[in-house]
Amino acid sequence: MAETQDIRLVDLDEDGVDRAFRADVLAGLRQADKAVPARWFYDDEGSELFEEITRLPEYYPTRAEREILESRGNEFAELIGPGRAVVEFGSGSSVKTPLLLRAIDPGAYVPLDIAGDFLRAAAADLSAKFPGLPVYPVEADFTKKVTLPDAVRDIPKLGFFPGSTIGNMVPPTAVDLLRSMRATLGEGSQLLIGMDLVKDRKILTAAYDDAAGVTARFNLNLVHRINRELDGTIPAEKLRHKAVWNDTFSRVEMHLEALEDIGFTVSGVDFAMRKGETIHTENSHKFRRRSANMLLLAGGWTPVRRWLDGKKRFSLILAEATVPRSAP
Ligand code: AVI
Repeated sequence: MAETQDIRLVDLDEDGVDRAFRADVLAGLRQADKAVPARWFYDDEGSELFEEITRLPEYYPTRAEREILESRGNEFAELIGPGRAVVEFGSGSSVKTPLLLRAIDPGAYVPLDIAGDFLRAAAADLSAKFPGLPVYPVEADFTKKVTLPDAVRDIPKLGFFPGSTIGNMVPPTAVDLLRSMRATLGEGSQLLIGMDLVKDRKILTAAYDDAAGVTARFNLNLVHRINRELDGTIPAEKLRHKAVWNDTFSRVEMHLEALEDIGFTVSGVDFAMRKGETIHTENSHKFRRRSANMLLLAGGWTPVRRWLDGKKRFSLILAEATVPRSAP
């Protein structure tokens, strides 16, 4: 049975427009450096394009993480132990979860996601694969503390946050999220988190600008979504997808660059872009061992163990919510 948090997950206006989407787009386009938060990529079309991205030859993170999950099962079992409730943050279609669940013999599985229908379908799928494992899907915004089902209250927890989604957040937001996860899971819990690594910038930018143009379609889909849902007139054919490495911030950035001077409206508001100006649509931070550890520590998690894939492109880190033994 799904449990629903007492929060409104999507707030629609009288025309059925997502108020948060409109507020974010209008505020982002009014800025001197135009930007729209990456979370708005994921409508149905965007989610399908992202699934396609994960299968691209250039997009190594999904394969690299799966390789670690497939090859290190014994070590997960040893360090995590049996009987934990696995709480997956933003479970989506839960594709990597069976690899983890098979390795560690968990006591329960609690997928958390904001998209209720998707969540329940994925939970049902997983229940069928693991008969006997209690599954408690929770429809919730996991960026805040989530109240977990009573059935898992007294079971030790393992948070699971694969995919390096943490890298899509700027550091202050990432730290807030890690702290919320700690509040949700409680003292003594563990977290298994995927974090993509800094590497040759050609490999990095190719992963976000593939030869088949799927990532370009993913990026431009945001414009189509704005035009459709917010009554926009953005000329998509006059924007081009751009992926750049920002060394100061250690991240790949995605932008939409104007090929000429353009003007358009969104929800009745006028905007203009000069040739070469961009809308910043995504950050994907990449980590080194120390920067990953520092972020986890700032979020209240002590790193315990780190695994890499064979080509050392991606890391999976196990951390613990213990009180650090140190001077203040
Ligand atoms: C979901 N997230 C971890 C992906 C990433 O690699 O930052 C999103 C993505 N954007 C373009 N390609 C993939």
